[in-house]
Amino acid sequence: MRRKLAAGNWKMNGSNAALAEIAALAAHPAQSEVLICPPATLIAAAVRAASGAVMIGAQDCHASASGAHTGDIAAPMLAEAGATHVIVGHSERRSDHGETSAQVAAKAAAARTAGLTPIICVGETAAERAAGRAEEIVTRQMLESLPADSDATLIVAYEPIWAIGTGDTATTDDIAMMHRALRAALSEHLGVEAAHKIRLLYGGSVKPGNAREIFAVADVDGALVGGASLTASDFGTIIAALDQA
Ligand code: PGA
Repeated sequence: MRRKLAAGNWKMNGSNAALAEIAALAAHPAQSEVLICPPATLIAAAVRAASGAVMIGAQDCHASASGAHTGDIAAPMLAEAGATHVIVGHSERRSDHGETSAQVAAKAAAARTAGLTPIICVGETAAERAAGRAEEIVTRQMLESLPADSDATLIVAYEPIWAIGTGDTATTDDIAMMHRALRAALSEHLGVEAAHKIRLLYGGSVKPGNAREIFAVADVDGALVGGASLTASDFGTIIAALDQA
């Protein structure tokens, strides 16, 4: 049985005041795993606010463990700050910073070496979907973004780029088809047993109003939530929907 995961990605939002939202989530223990990925500056304080009831992750890491990389943060540093997970290859990193799938795979490998669980993000553009190439492109992107020593401890998040922050979500049929295709590709690549254990999250405008419908889709093991993870009230509603799915 795969444990469900509600992961929040705060992106470049949040401040010390926002830690109260994490404390509020921590006060309502869930059956699902709950993870918040705040900006790196808030990780250590977020871990304290979470009091062990909510896991805290990061939004990116460097592929090297240390070195001359001004402004970057290494995976062991995130682990030392108390992070347990790190998002890698988010479409905003791929577009804002030109990250390639090979770089994402190297970051995921660095995360695993540091004891962090990578959440590897993949997703197609609107034009790729319109051209009927979404499954082919996303499957290839995922396989190219997996670290060489992949096993069942990593997490994959399918986030159609056109659904992120737009209020548009993929249809439940599209989500089901993509998750089935990704699970099949993982089975072929890592073997059925490992592929069956890997959690596949959906991301892209998951909100309190659509969470129940999305979590009912086969092969959806949770969500990566941006905007709606910023407040404990919205994210709490999404977590409750996941608990009931
Ligand atoms: P959104 O972001 O929920 O605000 O669409 C999701 C994400 O980018 O992870």
